[in-house]
Amino acid sequence: MYTHLQRDVSRPPVTLATLARMKADGERIASLTCYDASFAVLLDQAGVDVVLVGDSLGMVIQGHDTTVPVTMDQVVYHSAAVARGLHRPFQIADLPFMSYPSKDLALAHSVRLMQEGGAKMIKLESGGKQTEIVEFLTGHDIAVCAHVGLKPQSVHKTGGFRVQGREQDTATRLVNEAKQLEAAGADIVLLECIPAALGATITQALRVPVIGIGAGPDTDGQILVTYDMLDITTGRKPRFVRNFMDGAARNNQEALAAYVRAVKQREYPAPEHSF
Ligand code: KIV
Repeated sequence: MYTHLQRDVSRPPVTLATLARMKADGERIASLTCYDASFAVLLDQAGVDVVLVGDSLGMVIQGHDTTVPVTMDQVVYHSAAVARGLHRPFQIADLPFMSYPSKDLALAHSVRLMQEGGAKMIKLESGGKQTEIVEFLTGHDIAVCAHVGLKPQSVHKTGGFRVQGREQDTATRLVNEAKQLEAAGADIVLLECIPAALGATITQALRVPVIGIGAGPDTDGQILVTYDMLDITTGRKPRFVRNFMDGAARNNQEALAAYVRAVKQREYPAPEHSF
């Protein structure tokens, strides 16, 4: 009964159990962001394991300077489009700015992302203050990815998109927050823009898979904004971005496959992509 609707049995969908096994086996998790059905099909065909409908859509799709203007309805809309194009990858969707100020709102909005948006997991930008919300959501059997380090939704408070955890006290705080979030039930921790050594320390300290963006080569998986690694976004890109259209790739599909290969073979990120 549990598999009666499963399409393409040769490529079973990635689940949290798959990701746990990958961590245990040392197989890197290749992840990318996605905002529409056509790209979802390409990412799936390229062998991407985890697809995030990120609120980065506010910047790369809508043209805002930050992710702050993104609304719940917009993430639901994009997540539903992505879900229509995916078969194998595990789909995560972002809770946007101020959609989780209380436990009840976080729950109601997570339910929307799953029921209307087809997401299997929700992601929220988390510090110590979000631990109770994570505990509440996971207590309702919602799979949660806790986003730690640089938190783009807080950019106006923190004063810019800057590497986090360079100082010892902040590094210690980030390690403790990641541990607390895991203890609260977070199923994945995502680390953004922290020194490589700190990325390695947190990954070793946690049992759950850790996915990094600008967090060095030693996290269990990597993620990039697809428009950045395909060189669609113009302007200056963060240090951790590698342009996968630069090289042998003749088209998007080859560049996406090259990314998956580079992550799996631990060729990306190289030292020049790390802090
Ligand atoms: O919104 C997003 O795309 C993200 C990634 C940068 C990880 O959170």
